[in-house]
Amino acid sequence: MANKVLSKRKLSPAVYQLKIEKPTIARKASPGQFVVIRVDEKGERIPLTIYSPDRKKSFSLVFLVAGLTTRKLASLNPGDCLLDVLGPLGRPSEIPRNKTLVFLGGGVGIAEILPLAEAAKEAGNKIIIIAGFRSQKYVILEEEMRTLSDSLFITTDDGSYGRRGFNTEVLKEMLSKEKIDLVYTCGPVLMMQKAAEITKTLGVGCIASLNALMVDGTGMCGSCRVLVGGKVKLCCVDGPDFDAHQVDFSDLINRQNRFREEEKMVYG
Ligand SMILES: Cc1cc2nc3c(=O)[nH]c(=O)nc-3n(C[C@H](O)[C@H](O)[C@H](O)COP(=O)(O)OP(=O)(O)OC[C@H]3O[C@@H](n4cnc5c(N)ncnc54)[C@H](O)[C@@H]3O)c2cc1C
Ligand code: FES
Repeated sequence: MANKVLSKRKLSPAVYQLKIEKPTIARKASPGQFVVIRVDEKGERIPLTIYSPDRKKSFSLVFLVAGLTTRKLASLNPGDCLLDVLGPLGRPSEIPRNKTLVFLGGGVGIAEILPLAEAAKEAGNKIIIIAGFRSQKYVILEEEMRTLSDSLFITTDDGSYGRRGFNTEVLKEMLSKEKIDLVYTCGPVLMMQKAAEITKTLGVGCIASLNALMVDGTGMCGSCRVLVGGKVKLCCVDGPDFDAHQVDFSDLINRQNRFREEEKMVYG
């Protein structure tokens, strides 16, 4: 059977890691790319980042249980199969060489940004990871972050682990003290917006991996439209990475809020 779940790991109360057997994707995937999956015939299509491909036969999905599809995904067990796994999709991230890079991730955004950090390490860059979580029980992939980074900073909103407060505060302090060449960010839109503001003010480049709402993931439906530098871009084929200083985050937030309102009207 295709798309078989090989293993399952619970990383936090609502985040799971599933290892999926799919050699075509495991061999071809580049950092920053994603798949669009469907769990079963009645299921919706959702995009998830390709995490830790082994270059031979499998890769992982690390996902937060946010709604119906991710709930169904979390109910799968080793031996079960996903109906569709389409990919790799999206443009691979551009990784510089021999620079000092900050990776700023929030919540499950850490899983989306770690593949970039891994590729950046291989390209000879110094890796600083600043990871923010709501509280200690939501901290994920700490061991992986420690192994990969030259410096790791963890923040929690409630101070139950690491430093209390938002990861963007650590970013601001760091950029004021150290020479950083580029910041990559992925996570809640408000966090990425703040990172864009801070880096713009301090004259440091910033790449945001945007989580626009997607349906087909191949440029056909238009649902993942984002405004970048005043132009309409499709997150699935032009992204998901964009120059954060050019992204219209207010438009992105409005589109996601509209989706939530429509979803409430349909599903209650
Ligand atoms: C390129 C890309 C890569 C992604 N990679 C990951 C990943 O590796 N791990 C992960 O946990 N999530 C990732 N996401 C977000 C993930 O696609 C959504 O969480 C998922 O679609 C929710 O589906 P659902 O049916 O479970 O929830 P739904 O019932 O559809 O939605 C539940 C809640 O999640 C919100 N939501 C729905 N779709 C998105 C979305 N695209 N972005 C943000 N919020 C959304 C809704 O507004 C709603 O509040 C990625 C999104 C993109 C665009
Ligand atoms: S998801 Fe349909 S155009 Fe991008």
